Amino acid sequence: MDAIVLLKDDHKTVEKLFKEFEKAGDRAYRKKRELVDQMIKELTTHAYIEEEIFYPAARAGVPETADHVLESVEEHHVVVWMLSELRELDPEDERFDAKVTVLMENVRHHVEEEEDEWFPQVRETMGRKELQELGERMANAKTEAPADPLMVGSARK
Ligand SMILES: [Fe+2]
Ligand SMILES: [Fe+2]
Repeated sequence: MDAIVLLKDDHKTVEKLFKEFEKAGDRAYRKKRELVDQMIKELTTHAYIEEEIFYPAARAGVPETADHVLESVEEHHVVVWMLSELRELDPEDERFDAKVTVLMENVRHHVEEEEDEWFPQVRETMGRKELQELGERMANAKTEAPADPLMVGSARK
């Protein structure tokens, strides 16, 4: 599986969860808890494989992406901390929906930058074979991803 195709598939999976959350009723607390738990799992795994495999490979293979990669890590930092707060937050808490809304805004902005601004640079420079190999490594690494968002590298200050 091509690395960029794999990452974009993950983005789509997360976007589906976001749409479902937006459709859920104000008082659909159990549904919203389930959806947010899935977001935590998907986004933690995704951030982990990007940070462990894709970002370092992009930076090494396509040095022009370095600034984008560094900015992306800072965006992950905010996201994983928000995820760790959402893990503990009661869906009935008045801050819950607002926190999820800000999380979704952050992630959508981040995904747009990855897909429109710098993944294309990586695609142009790296060969198909290399992207294929990165994709395989990331698919395997998914099983090693931590459950705790704060165990992802970018959580550190
Ligand atoms: Fe990312
Ligand atoms: Fe991503």
